[in-house]
Amino acid sequence: MYSEKVIDHFQHPRNVGEIENASGVGTVGNAKCGDIMRIYLDIDDNQIIRDCKFKTFGCGAAVATSSMATELVKGKSVNEALQITNKAVMEALDGLPPVKVHCSLLAEEAIHAALWDYAQKKGIKIEGLEKPKTDIGEEEENEDY
Ligand code: FES
Repeated sequence: MYSEKVIDHFQHPRNVGEIENASGVGTVGNAKCGDIMRIYLDIDDNQIIRDCKFKTFGCGAAVATSSMATELVKGKSVNEALQITNKAVMEALDGLPPVKVHCSLLAEEAIHAALWDYAQKKGIKIEGLEKPKTDIGEEEENEDY
């Protein structure tokens, strides 16, 4: 029921760990399952994401989506990273079972939270970025994917 890419990223997750003195750190929790995700971003003076790492107390789908999400944001500008949705991450993984879609939100939300942290530290505003929620509630679950 999982694609080969999901299984690969679950068994060999990319970018696990943390970044010391990260430009931005974001932590979010999933209200539905209680799982937690933390993302670290290293962003240079040109607002390019040089490195991205994650740590999670999450399920296999959360690990796989975070692994793919961190791969996708690396080398991107802050604004490009903001456009990477959980849908794009799922597509890059050749899909997830519907019951696991909420897991993919953890990575997207944690990236947004880390970008928000970066913007706060720098005193800048990132167009289109809203203050992150610390918990992912039911509303997102009901969105039409
Ligand atoms: Fe919690 Fe997947 S079940 S993140």
